[in-house]
Amino acid sequence: MKVYPIACESLGTRSFAHIVVTDDIVIMIDPSVSLAPTRFGLPPHPLEIAASWKSRRTILDLIDNVDVIVQTHYHADHFTIGVERNFEFTNRKTFEVIYSQDKIILAKDHKHHLNFNQQKRAKWLWKKKNLDIKIADSSEYVFGDTKITFSDPVFHGIDSKRGCVVETFIEDCKSSFLYTSDVCGPATKEATDFVLEKSPDIVILDGPTVYHPNVTQEEKEVAFSNLKLITDNIPNVYIDHHYLRIKNWSEILKEEIGKVLPSFSQLNNQKPFLLEAIRKELHQQHPVNEKFYTNFNNGIYSREKFNQLLRDFNYYKYWLKLRSDVELMIERRI
Ligand SMILES: [Fe+2]
Ligand SMILES: [Fe+2]
Repeated sequence: MKVYPIACESLGTRSFAHIVVTDDIVIMIDPSVSLAPTRFGLPPHPLEIAASWKSRRTILDLIDNVDVIVQTHYHADHFTIGVERNFEFTNRKTFEVIYSQDKIILAKDHKHHLNFNQQKRAKWLWKKKNLDIKIADSSEYVFGDTKITFSDPVFHGIDSKRGCVVETFIEDCKSSFLYTSDVCGPATKEATDFVLEKSPDIVILDGPTVYHPNVTQEEKEVAFSNLKLITDNIPNVYIDHHYLRIKNWSEILKEEIGKVLPSFSQLNNQKPFLLEAIRKELHQQHPVNEKFYTNFNNGIYSREKFNQLLRDFNYYKYWLKLRSDVELMIERRI
């Protein structure tokens, strides 16, 4: 089994999209990309928009190879919504291409354990005609020697305010992998217990939401203590998403749990390049031409300029290699 991150904070966007290739199937998990519309009072820097564009392109380039889509919940950073969004490079067509009839979709139950907003979005998917869609919550699905097991719905944080997500555990004859999705730490015992009980070879988790002003000190402490419990028991834990929205993430981790964890990008040998966390510095050091946002919002942008921007910062190669690695891996399997 091989796991390839496509879009996440350590690759410059607010996302958690990845692809898992086993001998039996190709699984794409939470196929979406997003950017914080405002952070530090600033819009995304063009470099962030370029990373979003490249991640979105990669999802669309690889989607034809995918047999199974896993949808852990319906926030837009995980779920490609069918409306026009500029920074996310999505519209109705993007939604149609990703959630198409030729795939099996294993998705968070849309009727239970979701908040109102997510239920509304989930309906787009569940009402789509002729989709092969099944409930993920508390279920197991077997494809040859590959088994996908989903947790019971667990809170997206400490309580039900933001609904629930499902954690995803994938195993084949050789190895196992667990993706927590948005459990914010984990913030709860239930979300932590699922990880400990499965004890996978590799865990990808989203970490505590320390950047968020509404998260209390007590909540942070609980989240770090759950995280420590996991890292004390499981050797290969990668952290990303919520936790990697701050610059000094590794220092705080060292203080809180006594060690630094690798970012998700490092699973595929890429040094993390956090862009949202350094948005202020990006705007200061690489000021944006005042016409950029007006032009961009009017659909005037150059694909070549985005590529060049990523090349200038030495980030372009990641997605280039990712695409060829995934395609080679799929080919080799056949
Ligand atoms: Fe979420
Ligand atoms: Fe998220």
